[in-house]
Amino acid sequence: MKALVKEQAGPGLTLTEVPEPSVGPHDVLIKVLRTGICGTDLHIHAYDGWAQRAVRTPLVPGHEFVGEVVGTGADVAEVAVGDLVSGEGHLVCGTCRNCLAGRRHLCRATVGLGVGRDGAFAEYVSLPASNVWVHRTPVDLDVAAIFDPFGNAVHTALSFPVVGEDVLITGAGPIGIMAAAVVRHAGARNVVVTDVSEPRLELARKVGAGLALDVSARTIEEGQRELGLREGFDVGLEMSGRPEALREMVANMTHGGRIAMLGLPTEEFPVDFARIVTSMLTLKGIYGREMFETWYSMSVLLEGGLDLTPVITGRYSYRDFDDAFAEAAAGTGGKVVLDWTA
Ligand SMILES: NC(=O)c1ccc[n+]([C@@H]2O[C@H](COP(=O)([O-])OP(=O)(O)OC[C@H]3O[C@@H](n4cnc5c(N)ncnc54)[C@H](O)[C@@H]3O)[C@@H](O)[C@H]2O)c1
Ligand SMILES: [Zn+2]
Ligand SMILES: [Zn+2]
Repeated sequence: MKALVKEQAGPGLTLTEVPEPSVGPHDVLIKVLRTGICGTDLHIHAYDGWAQRAVRTPLVPGHEFVGEVVGTGADVAEVAVGDLVSGEGHLVCGTCRNCLAGRRHLCRATVGLGVGRDGAFAEYVSLPASNVWVHRTPVDLDVAAIFDPFGNAVHTALSFPVVGEDVLITGAGPIGIMAAAVVRHAGARNVVVTDVSEPRLELARKVGAGLALDVSARTIEEGQRELGLREGFDVGLEMSGRPEALREMVANMTHGGRIAMLGLPTEEFPVDFARIVTSMLTLKGIYGREMFETWYSMSVLLEGGLDLTPVITGRYSYRDFDDAFAEAAAGTGGKVVLDWTA
């Protein structure tokens, strides 16, 4: 089958022929239809410091996909040939305390699809049946391809109640934009999104952000004044991974405010902890998606009319992966999707 492969230590990916993945008794074989390109894939493509530590070659990257089940292992009962599925890219151990208690998203030995084992940038991918989400309601294929990052957005956005609350989202990357759409849909009052990229802020406005603020030109405090907020934000969603964004967020929260942090900083940085203590803020780290409560929410949100189509701004055949990766790396648009059937 054709696959995009990180063949050796160094930048780039190669489109080449590799054997189809093997299918164990608990696995399903999936014909990949579309895949999303994630920041993780950009790191692997560039082979930066993180990728050099995290990845062993050869590797087929890719963890955001939608596909059709074309084969099932002998012990698979709940997934059938012909099912349209997206994949949960965190493979859990099944035996640690959290896994045994059903809190699989808190597994201490998670392996990442397309990072720790071969992933979805291929014509076929194999996955444990317990890692697939069957789409039981009609869903746009491009949207189904990005269920993994959509899940990051939903997991973060619904971490704290948002009905009637004023929500600050720092970072208008694809995930921040989806989070803005989710909190708007879920009934937040003011939704403020910050970034330093005007095209991305424009996308945030498109999905319903009341105020999309360029923090290279204006402060969040000015944004608060413009909206008539007097006491600060109730809920903060950090989705940039940038130290200055978290610091600004902490400074602009109301007392008792709650912050969910998805953005992954690349290094340690100082934060005003005295402010966190005296404002009695709650900070919660978010990794991945809850299995499978987040997935249930995602399907239900879409069924209820949440529109994610503006988030997808790039569509390419897998053959044109170089152009697709370049667009994703430019970081000025939304999500870029590869079509594996075209
Ligand atoms: N915890 C998890 O499970 C998980 C999963 C996926 C992604 N992530 C992380 O979540 C974050 C968002 O993902 P993404 O794919 O949307 O990333 P992205 O890199 O596309 O988006 C980050 C955005 O932050 C903006 N930004 C830069 N400086 C800023 C500032 N000072 N204030 C506000 N915004 C600023 C950038 O311009 C960019 O648009 C990244 O940090 C990513 O690594 C975490
Ligand atoms: Zn991803
Ligand atoms: Zn575990």
